[in-house]
Order: sequence, then structure tokens, then C-alpha cells
Amino acid sequence: MSEELNEPKGRVLVVDDESSIREIVCRILTDEGYLCEGAGDADEALSRLSQGDYECVLTDIHMPGMDGVDLLRQIRLMSEDVAVIMITGAPDMDNALEAMRLGAYDHLSKPLNLAQLTLTVQRAVEKKRLVEENREYQRILEQKVQERTKQLYDANQELRRLFLSSIKALAQALEAKDEYTQGHSTRVAEESVRIARYLKLSEHEVENIWLAGFLHDIGKIGIRENVLNKPGKLDAAEWDLVQQHPVLAEKILEPIEELAEVIKIVRHHHERFDGSGYPDGVTGSEIPLGARILGVADAFDALTSRRPYREALTVSEALDVLEDAAGTQFDTVLVRAFVSARAEAGGLEETPGTPPEPDVLQDAKGPGTVSAGAVPFRLDDLS
Ligand SMILES: [Fe+2]
Ligand SMILES: [Fe+2]
Repeated sequence: MSEELNEPKGRVLVVDDESSIREIVCRILTDEGYLCEGAGDADEALSRLSQGDYECVLTDIHMPGMDGVDLLRQIRLMSEDVAVIMITGAPDMDNALEAMRLGAYDHLSKPLNLAQLTLTVQRAVEKKRLVEENREYQRILEQKVQERTKQLYDANQELRRLFLSSIKALAQALEAKDEYTQGHSTRVAEESVRIARYLKLSEHEVENIWLAGFLHDIGKIGIRENVLNKPGKLDAAEWDLVQQHPVLAEKILEPIEELAEVIKIVRHHHERFDGSGYPDGVTGSEIPLGARILGVADAFDALTSRRPYREALTVSEALDVLEDAAGTQFDTVLVRAFVSARAEAGGLEETPGTPPEPDVLQDAKGPGTVSAGAVPFRLDDLS
């Protein structure tokens, strides 16, 4: 005989204070192939239940001490799954109903009907197994969902890493071509993010601003090197060419759908608050917030960087220039945000560098020069 045939159909606990009933029920169920044990009261039943795994409990409702309904309550605190069948006397219908509402699987009336007893126990055991199988299935399903979610997350992270590597490669391609923009994109991105975080923009907006900072001058890839790296003054045609770079950037980045919002910021990073910027000459809040932020950070970096025709301005000189141009070139609120954000980060101290010589500054590269107090502020610094 195979081992499978010897396996009990289920483990059943019969709780009744009358030993004769326990014995009869146990004998019947044992004959049916169940492993059956008896308990003379609720306390003994709870003790057995705490030590073993039963599919089904058959319990008398009326017992000395804790009755069957209270026993059911206690069993439910221990396990949701074990099937409990109440054995009731004819006048116990109220108690039987209460037990059903508390989660009893079914009830059997005394005197017990043999066929009903075995059928009900069989169904109760099957239900308990089904509940357990469902729970296991649910557990495996949740585990699989978690694994798939992690795989998707990892795949997304990998895609994002590749995306950012491509962006970095683009920015490096520009820096290889334009010697004066080395590190510029990274610094503009960082300063722009500082302003964005100071303004408590959302992480999504901060990320777009960071990407825009990184890519803002990418259009210069489309401009001849002899113009980009020209040490002297640009003529009008060359200046026109340089001013094309925000539009060229838009064309370069357009195929990357994920950058749709970033492209808007990049296109408008040379707009001016008073409408005298390029390429569209839009004013005030018509200029995307990200582009206005970038404009401030871009100007600051250009002013504090050394150019062939002048030394770098100091931090305080550059901030003076920005403050003087607030309301005309820049959004005043954003200039203030930038100054406060740098102060908060302890970044108002001077950077090493020689103050610009007035005669060097007079030799402006581009055609537009705006005087900002003692420090001339030129449009070409922001190209
Ligand atoms: Fe720039
Ligand atoms: Fe630019």
C-alpha cells in the first residue's frame, strides 16, 4: 500500500464534555480516514490547538466552563483558517446563529446524523485546505510581483543611467569643441539647482532644471569653432550666428521626447526679463521659470570665469552685476533667491582671481555692453 493511501484526510479535534459523544464521533471520523482527537472542555481544546495544526474543530455549544461560542472566539484569535463546526441542541438556534456570525463553518444538530456529520467535516476540511492554498498562491503571487517590480526598477535605473550617460556625452562633445565652456555646463547646472532647491521646486522640476543647465549651450556644437574660440571681437554676422545656439539646441534635442520640458528651458535661456533677449524676445513670466533661473546661473558663471579679453570677476563683483541687472535682464526675485541660496550655502566669499582691468574690459568681444556701476556687464558674457 502506498504511503499516500495511509495519509489521514485531515486532523479533527472533537470538543465535548460528554466522553461518549467524543468517542462515537471520533470513531466515525477515524473510520472515514481522519486523524481524530478529543478534548473534554474548552481549555483542553485550546491547549491542543496551540500545540498542533488542525483542519477542523467540532465543538459542543453547551459545556461547563467556557462554552462553545467563547471557545470559537478564542480559536479565531489564534487562527482565521481552522474550520469550526458547532454541535447544537435543538433549542440552541440563537447560539448557533451567533456562532455562524463569529465565523463558524457550519452547525450540526443533536442527535447527530452520521451522513451529515461526515459530509460537513469533509467540506470543512476541504475549505480549510482551499483557504490555505489560496493564501499560499497569494503569497507566491505577491513575491512574483515584488520580484518583477524590482526587475522593472532595475531596468529603469539602467535606462536612466544610459540616458544620463548620453546627455553627458553630448555636453562633453561641446566642451571638447569650445575651450571656454569647459566645466561651464556642470557649474550652471549646479548653480541652477541651488536656486531651484532654494525655491522648493518639485524634484521633477529640479531635475529638468539640472538637465537644462547641463545642456543649455549644446547648440554651440552647430557653430564654427573659429567663431566660438575667436579671441577678439565678433562682427555682426558672427554675433548673429552665436545667437542661433538656443534654437540649434532645440533642434538637436528635439528627437529626445523625454526632454520636451527641458528643451523649453534651453530655448529661452537667453531671454531677458524686459523682453530684449533672444531668440523670441518674450518678457517676464512668459519666459519659463527654469529658463529665468538658468539665465541668472549662466550669467554668474560667465562673469566669474576668465575670458580671453578679461580676467574673472570676483563673486561679489558678479553678484553686484546681477543685482544691478535685476528687473531688466533678470527676474529680481530669482536674483535675490540666488544671493540668498549662496549665502545659505556659505558661498558669498571671494573666489581667487584678479579684479578686471578697466582697459581690458573695454575691449568687449560682442557688440552689446551694459554698464553696471564700476563693472561693465556685456551681453557676450552670456552667449
Ligand atoms: Fe552658457
Ligand atoms: Fe547660452
